[in-house]
Amino acid sequence: MIVLGLESSCDETGVAVYDTQAGLRAHRVHSQIDLHAAYGGVVPELASRDHVRRLPALVRQVLDDAGLALADLDGIAYTAGPGLAGALLVAAGTAEAMAAALGVPSLPIHHLEGHLLSPLLSAEPPAFPFVALLVSGGHTQLMAVTGVGEYTLLGESVDDAAGEAFDKTAKLMGLPYPGGPALAALADKGVAGRVNLPRPMIHSGDLNFSFSGLKTAVMTALRDGRHASEDVAAEFQSAVIDVLSRKARQALKNTGMSRLVVAGGVGANRALRAALDEMARRRQWRVFYPEPELCTDNGAMIAFAGAMRFAAGASGQTDGAVTVKPRWPLDTLAAPAG
Ligand code: KG4
Ligand code: ZN
Repeated sequence: MIVLGLESSCDETGVAVYDTQAGLRAHRVHSQIDLHAAYGGVVPELASRDHVRRLPALVRQVLDDAGLALADLDGIAYTAGPGLAGALLVAAGTAEAMAAALGVPSLPIHHLEGHLLSPLLSAEPPAFPFVALLVSGGHTQLMAVTGVGEYTLLGESVDDAAGEAFDKTAKLMGLPYPGGPALAALADKGVAGRVNLPRPMIHSGDLNFSFSGLKTAVMTALRDGRHASEDVAAEFQSAVIDVLSRKARQALKNTGMSRLVVAGGVGANRALRAALDEMARRRQWRVFYPEPELCTDNGAMIAFAGAMRFAAGASGQTDGAVTVKPRWPLDTLAAPAG
């Protein structure tokens, strides 16, 4: 079965075709980084308008890349949430219109399900069950994953997400948007431990996180002017990584699982990967990551999640209703046939 996937939840327009026989046939992403850079962050209305401009052409290009015609599509999956309401509506409206015109079912997909299943698209995919560490701009969550649609929330951030902490801290340090990669690059030039930042909630005993205090601590550390910004960046990155890896370790211990899947934009962070790999190596656990280009938002993960659900018996929608869910807890999802 051949599934088209559309993603427009934030500042990337993503389109892909996943074929349950042949795998990922084609995928393209248009990033809006240049569009929002002047404002230091994503401007929702500009994001929506740009998705409207880009999506139709991307769909045509991806079908061309895959050597497919519209009539070859068996279903259309799209990100229905969580995300920016106006931005989400672009893929949702396009998908529902296409599905109605082609007479195929549509399938609303949860953006984070896309992220957490994305390592299954890599050459060496993890088997179920696994613990997923979801670290994106909007979410920091630990989930126990026993199958497609079977997600149990183990813990999450009580305030800022890890990516949000990177972005906000980068902004107050005067780094360009998008802050995460810029702050990570600066951190690689500095030395952690020259300035001391807290490891929020590291000893809380649960699997929740808190990152909003870190940016305040960074502000204080910068204010006295005694520390090089690269050392502050290195210590910030190290604090986030210490907390993420400690809680991931605890989640694996608590569940008795031996596989960790890391997904979401912050999963691209090289120092985080090194720390998690080292933690796993010592305990003979395995850590799985999406291919680098599939760490941040893309259509491939949405086409794939849709194909997995269709293949598992999901019938999809045929009523043409365009409904998005800007807020949508991941652990309320049902398994495909359910
Ligand atoms: O998953 P994603 O592309 O979008 C959301 O669904 O949020 O994640 C984007 C987030 C941003 O906060 C970005 O700053 C962060 O991932 N990010 C990074 C790195 N690359 C992206 N954070 C730290 N280090 C990186 N190398
Ligand atoms: Zn995302």
